[in-house]
Amino acid sequence: MLKERTNFKIISNPIVNQSLSVMRNKDTDTQGVRLAARKLTRILLYEATKNLPQKDIEIETPVSKCVTKTINDDITIIISPILRAGLIFTDEAVDILPQATIRHIGMYRDESTLKPVWYYNKVPMPVHEPNKYYVFITDPMLATGNSLKEAVRLYVSKGIPQENICCISMISAPCGIEALFKEFPDINLIVSAVDSHLNERGYIVPGMGDAGDRIFNTL
Ligand code: URA
Repeated sequence: MLKERTNFKIISNPIVNQSLSVMRNKDTDTQGVRLAARKLTRILLYEATKNLPQKDIEIETPVSKCVTKTINDDITIIISPILRAGLIFTDEAVDILPQATIRHIGMYRDESTLKPVWYYNKVPMPVHEPNKYYVFITDPMLATGNSLKEAVRLYVSKGIPQENICCISMISAPCGIEALFKEFPDINLIVSAVDSHLNERGYIVPGMGDAGDRIFNTL
């Protein structure tokens, strides 16, 4: 039984569930997987960005002046897709947040140890006011949690508060969720499904198989 936390959300609605069914089905082709995944990423991104700081601005509509809300422009928003499957979030993310910086993180999973192996890191950067950074790390599958932990560690080491970091995954496993919160109890986590367990090869059961292969047609 997973512990309830205010910083952990499982998003479920008919569109999410239908998208997951399409993605999980082994008979869905790559085009179908991508379309369903894109739809799902948009919903998860809307949830993830709910607490971005806002400010009031005065504008003029064709009818009258009014005060409206907009996202603060003195913050830095970072989208960090974990390559390669995390890329599926990027197009929707830049549509929603055109002001965001995209910082790619390249890790693959060593199939024997299930530990992440780095091959690309676009994160090193000076961080002057870490409290003003809001980071969204995307990886469709949260299995062991090892890759997400590595990615979060990188941002936390720059002084960015855990509360300003949000990990977004589609399908997750209970052990990965617990491992992530054990090391970083104050980060935010948004998923659309918590599955049963990992199999002996570290795949989520029932899951959707290898998300990268299914999204990029490399099966
Ligand atoms: N990564 C995947 O793509 N699928 C899994 O089931 C686990 C990790």
